[in-house]
Amino acid sequence: MGYLIQILLVIFGLVIIKNILIAIFFYHEIKTAQKKDPAAKSFVEILLLYQGLHALVAYRVGNFFYRMRFFFLARFISQLARWATGIEIHPGAKIGKGLFIDHGMGVVVGETAIIGDNVLLYQGVTLGGTGLEKGKRHPTIGNNVVIGGGAKVLGNITIGDNSYIGANAVVIKDVPANSTVVGVPGRITKQEGKKIDISLDHIHVLDPIMQLIDDLEKRVESIEKNKNKP
Ligand SMILES: CC(C)(COP(=O)(O)OP(=O)(O)OC[C@H]1O[C@@H](n2cnc3c(N)ncnc32)[C@H](O)[C@@H]1OP(=O)(O)O)[C@@H](O)C(=O)NCCC(=O)NCCS
Repeated sequence: MGYLIQILLVIFGLVIIKNILIAIFFYHEIKTAQKKDPAAKSFVEILLLYQGLHALVAYRVGNFFYRMRFFFLARFISQLARWATGIEIHPGAKIGKGLFIDHGMGVVVGETAIIGDNVLLYQGVTLGGTGLEKGKRHPTIGNNVVIGGGAKVLGNITIGDNSYIGANAVVIKDVPANSTVVGVPGRITKQEGKKIDISLDHIHVLDPIMQLIDDLEKRVESIEKNKNKP
């Protein structure tokens, strides 16, 4: 019984030490989360309960082993973190200071993605590739970028500093700095704080799936019209 209590005390001590180390080394990230999430009540709440922070800690450890070329161990850590947090960050990705992943579930960051400083990602964001290409195939995200829930940023493209990607947008082309992008495929609606007129015409925003359905409807209509002709 005495041994069991000693073992539990050691485990408890290690957990406390781990959290103190995270609080020291990830102080900037925790403070950033406090600033960016109006629901965050305290430093300790973020330290203990925010999956985005836990995924980032695991990423930093995995990335260390990745750079040491211990690829399997690095990937193992990343998969454990994915299992525990629902956030999959490849250990080969490059991530700057002050990343905050809010809610987090379903976030995927690919191997060759680069993320600048003070970036905010919401749940369901994918920084992915577009196919089976090799080499740099994931996006580069500038500083102070916000990527809304469910947005997909695909391919070796660059999102300029201070840009906003709207929730559920699919972005497949470069985005200049200080822009806002919404829709599928992503279109710039604001640049340097000014609305861009073309984007106000949301009825005519090109959606490839709607266009295909439209084309098929027209073909069915014309077949039905011609069916009754002698
Ligand atoms: C894009 C976003 C950053 C707003 O930027 P904004 O510059 O303030 O944009 P506005 O609200 O002025 O909207 C501009 C136009 O884009 C449209 N729009 C805004 N967000 C959109 C989106 N995600 N998808 C499609 N259209 C969108 C608006 O309806 C508006 O259209 P209109 O000019 O025809 O009326 C914001 O809407 C967004 O999507 N943020 C992500 C937030 C998020 O994911 N939160 C998760 C919390 S859990």
